[in-house]
Amino acid sequence: MKIRNLVLGALCGITFFSCSASGGGKDAEMDRFITDLMGKMTIREKLGQLNLPSGGDLVTGSVMNTELGDMIRKEEIGGFFNVKGVKKIYDLQRLAVEETRLKIPLIVGADVIHGYETIFPIPLALSCSWDTLAVQQMARISAIEASADGICWTFSPMVDICRDARWGRIAEGSGEDPYLGSLLAKAYVRGYQGNNMQGRDEILSCVKHFALYGASEAGKDYNTVDMSHLRMYNEYFAPYRAAVEAGVGSVMSSFNIVDGIPATANKWLLTDVLRDEWGFQGLLVTDYNSIAEMAVHGVAPLEEASVRALQAGTDMDMVSCGFLNTLEESLKEGKVTEAQINTACRRVLEAKYKLGLFADPYKYCDTLRVEKELYTADHRAAAREIAAKTFVLLKNEKNLLPLEEKGKIALIGPMADARNNMCGMWSMTCTPSGHGTLLEGIRSAAGDKAEILYAKGSNVYYDEEMEKGAVGIRPLERGNDRQLLAEALRTAARADVIVAAVGECAEMSGESPSRTNLEIPDAQQDLLKALVKTGKPVVLLLFTGRPLVLNWENEHVPAILNVWFGGSETGDAVADVLFGKVVPSGKLTTTFPRSVGQLPLFYNHLNTGRPDPDNRVFNRYASNYLDESNEPLYPFGYGLSYTDFVYGDLQLSSETLPKNGTLTASVTVTNRGDCDGYETVQIYLRDIYAEVARPVKELKGFERIFLKKGESREVKFVITEDDLKFYNSGLQYIYEPGEFDVMIGTNSRDVQTKRFSAE
Ligand code: BGC
Repeated sequence: MKIRNLVLGALCGITFFSCSASGGGKDAEMDRFITDLMGKMTIREKLGQLNLPSGGDLVTGSVMNTELGDMIRKEEIGGFFNVKGVKKIYDLQRLAVEETRLKIPLIVGADVIHGYETIFPIPLALSCSWDTLAVQQMARISAIEASADGICWTFSPMVDICRDARWGRIAEGSGEDPYLGSLLAKAYVRGYQGNNMQGRDEILSCVKHFALYGASEAGKDYNTVDMSHLRMYNEYFAPYRAAVEAGVGSVMSSFNIVDGIPATANKWLLTDVLRDEWGFQGLLVTDYNSIAEMAVHGVAPLEEASVRALQAGTDMDMVSCGFLNTLEESLKEGKVTEAQINTACRRVLEAKYKLGLFADPYKYCDTLRVEKELYTADHRAAAREIAAKTFVLLKNEKNLLPLEEKGKIALIGPMADARNNMCGMWSMTCTPSGHGTLLEGIRSAAGDKAEILYAKGSNVYYDEEMEKGAVGIRPLERGNDRQLLAEALRTAARADVIVAAVGECAEMSGESPSRTNLEIPDAQQDLLKALVKTGKPVVLLLFTGRPLVLNWENEHVPAILNVWFGGSETGDAVADVLFGKVVPSGKLTTTFPRSVGQLPLFYNHLNTGRPDPDNRVFNRYASNYLDESNEPLYPFGYGLSYTDFVYGDLQLSSETLPKNGTLTASVTVTNRGDCDGYETVQIYLRDIYAEVARPVKELKGFERIFLKKGESREVKFVITEDDLKFYNSGLQYIYEPGEFDVMIGTNSRDVQTKRFSAE
């Protein structure tokens, strides 16, 4: 994308790992080494390399006399994941390189999704910073910590575009936009892999889930996806491809079906698109047990599924053991060729070689590092700073926020003192007992200037069973509903202002928990209503892993700060923003609906032949709803600040974009408010007529600028033909001369528009 962005410019100069560009000399050396090694390997040993089991129960206990230990001795695995602790990993690696015939080191994976011991905000929150450098830094720190504890491969980034907040895994990705998603995908890869994985603290990244997992029907996890190729290419593929362009060393296929065939065995997807069209040469791993799940999909039993997955381009089988246990027989029967097994085995060995494991199998087993490099003061400071950038101020009537550090502040809600709930999903690698709670963070920030009162206020849900499902592995102590509420009201009565810490608990988003009701859970919603009824000013501190339906809250609560799940430093980061030490700057990367019935809801949709120009609740024979408008509650790109940014008129350098030329769109932004702050200026384009219908607007660039109080800055975006390109019905990536609208604004809804024509 040629629209220039200052933030991105700063990333130049970093060396990216690229399989194809890593230099003939090194590649030739690697090829010789692997060819020589493979010349010594039996078929069984080669299949062993393709096998990736989970360490599972090895999180505790000794590793030596376990099934995993036995498999290593028998050379039946190429690597494993789900084992924490460098000492254990060292023991397992030692078995592989000292007690086997071929001494091939193991590759050790983990879901290091948003930090390791130092936990950063969940990825959806991170994307709301619109700060590629912050995301890269978080990935870098994650890699440092994970590698210090024995991990050399992370199953991140997750780049699935998602437009349906019912899907819990929306929390794991970067939201609904392919352009922003692509920039962030690259930032993650750079952060993890660093300088070509040469360093001891640089690890292999794995982009997932290829592909389209975020479009699961009805927002239900693992569900079917059915999508036109046009839509895949124009709306969903870009972030995966961006990760490949950034040199990601591995890709994970997705659980879902694509064109009727599970992605796990979809040759069109895994070979024709990923390898042949995009040039991916790295390691391709399945998702958890997904070869075996092909039987349940009704496609093929394990043996045939393994054949099909291998033939489609899969290299490594996560958990199913289908490759290990069935491919030898399939080879004898002529269903697969030795060449196909060799190709997969070579890719696994190449990944290990590129990680430097053959040169030093203990590269990631330096037990001195683990003492010094986890949860350090520097890492925590970075996590705190980044967390504050991800919070999105949704409402701030009469500048209720920031709060003054004075008087009595009541912090009320089940999320206020829930130590194990600050980090959100995929944070099993951390040690929550070392983290502060929100209450502790706010108390320490207030010092003796303000008194912080506290009450839990409610359970998560009234229904115990419902709560059990919601809290998952992070239970909260339950109390009596009536007593909790009474105590909350007594506490509120003593306070000058109330801060309600409510919303989802950590395990309500992430893998598996899809929701049909997107409101704040019942008991907490009633608590909030009771607090508002006191007539005291209420700030809603919203914890969530997905967009929620907040109609009542938007109407009745004067201030709403969405803090997502901010990670291990949530307490301090929230205090920083609450008391105004940091001015909020996050902008939504996912649309907040007014109703679940509107889903999927996203800003870059196509027009119908009958749009509803007024967005009224009902307009007969227009494309809308009888009982709800088409409008979201909070649009993509939306987020307030403690200061006010005023946009001058949108200017175009010309009304025409000449062939092979450029056109500049600019706007002057002024900070007219009372404090310094960051604003993210966004530019969108719309192709007025094209062979295939094009979205009503598409993000094409943004700039995150810092403006001192009273300061103005002109922000310029340079538009080129590349910005006008799309895939047409023949899937050619072209642009069509004609008219375009350019829109610039503070979010996707509030924009100024001008038209230009492209020659
Ligand atoms: C998830 C992946 C994850 C894998 C390994 C699967 O259930 O879908 O995202 O990387 O497990 O833990």
